[in-house]
Amino acid sequence: MKKLFTLTGFFSLLWIISCNYTNKPNLCTLDTPWKFKTGDDLSWATTAFDDLSWGTIDPKSVWEDQGYKGYNGFAWYRYKTLIRSTLRDQKRVTDSLQIRLGKIDDCDQVFLNGKLIGENGRVIYGEMNTSGDFIKTHGRWNLERRYVLAQDDPRIQWDKENLIAVRSYDHGGPGGMFGKTFEISLTGLRDYLKIDLAATPFIFSGDTLVTKEFSMINLTGTEHFKGELVVEAVMCDNDIRIFSDRSLIDLAPHSKVDKSFSYKTNVSSPALLHVTFKEATTREEISEIVEVPYILTPESPATPRINGARVFGVRPWSPFLYKVAATGHPPLKFRASDLPEGLVINPENGLITGSLKKKGEYVVKLTVENQLGYADRDLKIMVGDLISLTPPMGWNSWNCWGLSVSDKKVRQSADAMKSSGLIEHGWSYINIDDGWEDTHDKDGNILANSKFPDMPGLCNYVHSLGLKIGIYSSPGPKTCGGYEGSYGFEAKDAMNYATWGIDYLKYDWCSYGKIAPDPTVEQMKRPYQEMKHALRKANRDIHYSLCQYGMGDVWTWGAVVDGNSWRTTGDIEDTWESMSSIGFSQWTCSSSAAPGRWNDPDMLVVGWVGWGPYLHYTRLTPNEQYTHITLWSLLAAPLLIGCDLNRLDAFTMNLLANDEVLAVNQDPLGKQALRVRKTDDYEVWARDLGDGSKAVGLFNNTEKLLYIPVEMHDLQLDGKWSMRDLWTQSELGKVRTHFEMKTRPHGARMVKLSQPD
Ligand code: GLA
Repeated sequence: MKKLFTLTGFFSLLWIISCNYTNKPNLCTLDTPWKFKTGDDLSWATTAFDDLSWGTIDPKSVWEDQGYKGYNGFAWYRYKTLIRSTLRDQKRVTDSLQIRLGKIDDCDQVFLNGKLIGENGRVIYGEMNTSGDFIKTHGRWNLERRYVLAQDDPRIQWDKENLIAVRSYDHGGPGGMFGKTFEISLTGLRDYLKIDLAATPFIFSGDTLVTKEFSMINLTGTEHFKGELVVEAVMCDNDIRIFSDRSLIDLAPHSKVDKSFSYKTNVSSPALLHVTFKEATTREEISEIVEVPYILTPESPATPRINGARVFGVRPWSPFLYKVAATGHPPLKFRASDLPEGLVINPENGLITGSLKKKGEYVVKLTVENQLGYADRDLKIMVGDLISLTPPMGWNSWNCWGLSVSDKKVRQSADAMKSSGLIEHGWSYINIDDGWEDTHDKDGNILANSKFPDMPGLCNYVHSLGLKIGIYSSPGPKTCGGYEGSYGFEAKDAMNYATWGIDYLKYDWCSYGKIAPDPTVEQMKRPYQEMKHALRKANRDIHYSLCQYGMGDVWTWGAVVDGNSWRTTGDIEDTWESMSSIGFSQWTCSSSAAPGRWNDPDMLVVGWVGWGPYLHYTRLTPNEQYTHITLWSLLAAPLLIGCDLNRLDAFTMNLLANDEVLAVNQDPLGKQALRVRKTDDYEVWARDLGDGSKAVGLFNNTEKLLYIPVEMHDLQLDGKWSMRDLWTQSELGKVRTHFEMKTRPHGARMVKLSQPD
């Protein structure tokens, strides 16, 4: 009888071993299906509850993809697993058990054997209050969940069945668990000893010298780590090791060692940097591999070159402000022949100002000259109803400074836009996002808060540099950041903006959701119509940027409410998942883009970002950043730099100052690229350009090097075409039926196909 019991015990033990110990005794993966149910009941956290009737779900993707489309609200996940003591067969710093649960959208509470072990997340509108105190202070949907317990924590049942229960709440959009890493392990060397390569970017000096600083950080207060540090740089194209360095490292508890190295290379050739630490006593290793950025954009020539938009829209009587963007060895002299009456050009800085009274079209010949030569080009001025005939290019405060934006930071950004030279590549807006507002005064005038003591002065300052300035508000009573919105004050606000000299308004739905919960498309249009009328009465050309995350397929009606651009998605983050899922989803709205009417897949996440006040260098790899800028240029997307312009490194400048890439974004035909081929591994997008040529982007969605084939019939091109690489600005020869391009992991290639002369 006793034996029988043991056998039954053995089989039931087998049945509950749902986690997979792989071939590593110290790691148990939790990525097999979990039990799942929508709804909310705290008894679902307990081991006594029987979840036999529940369905199952893959934790690696959100519930929307698994039969729960459109579901928002609470849902529970449950997973039973044996936690074996073999997990402890590790060598160093094994004091804690950690449970990694991928990411959870939006927020979660996690229970182990019925006891709460941690929680993360926030819900903006406060619905969570109705269900107890489950409300936090930070948006955490994209945060890797890692719950850590001391080894001797009584909530852990060693060598027995354990129940992990996750109570999740989704406020809107995709919901629930997703991500890559679902596992139980003991903490180890890699959790306490960090190789921090992200703190500073790579520095390039000239065409050949690469310098990198990084740190080794000992996070424990008890352990002393000694060992060997090996740093190697290996070329991606031929696996040749171009740099190798070994050194001894001695890290006392809670200490940091800064390292720096330099090597000579060709900065346009991609390489990988391997950093490995070999711990002396146990020989355990931890390592990091990162892509070394590589610079493809050639230096601008010393002879003059005219950049930026070739077509400019203005309304009759509105103040005209167009800066001729031009590179070349200074000093440059600017001229414009056939300027219509009412306009003048400043020969020193290329600013065209004035105003035009009548509707009509004018072609102006621009000339820029220096001691080495001259360049000329036509500018078409269209005086009519439509403005923003090419997508706006500029900077916005949100992705770097968040709500910590201030007058000083805006002025510094404007200064940097000029001093970095970006202004000479066509970048022209300096946009203040949320965080500037105070209240409306007794006469209904919107007041700026103490961080912005002089709005008209700030506008004047930005204009004096040849730049334009933008602002932010919400049609609701409050903005997303909780500041004063425009609800009930639309006409007054528009008038105030115009009087200050504002050129761009981002109008963000946010708390309007309280006024129109569950809105119909007609209700979605209403507040945007209202502000449209207000702006039109203000007699200033203010780019009208709708921000309501694509609700009600805004691209099908954004033009009706006079939007010049409309956000098509939720907020972007500096991760591959966020950037690529937003960018590659834009095929749905391609046909709606036209001059003056742009789909907006959100702002750029290159350089130092962070949503303020603390910044970090973008988590996108260099190849992912090439994808980002290539795709946004093909998409005819507004290009709003989201980083601190005062900390532009050489690689970021290389991304933002490639005039041939930017010319695709600014192409006067205003056609958004279409996706012409998609496989599991790659996508090809193509865009018709005004001069009869085609811009084509090849995108590698895998983590391996790929040779991406392109069929000319997919591009609807016959005959012989000349192909130019836009990033390197070099000719690639002729092509007839197909071509193939080596494309790096998560990277992109961008070419232009033109009819040979
Ligand atoms: C929303 C928008 C962001 C930003 C913030 C400001 O989240 O989508 O781009 O404007 O509001 O609070």
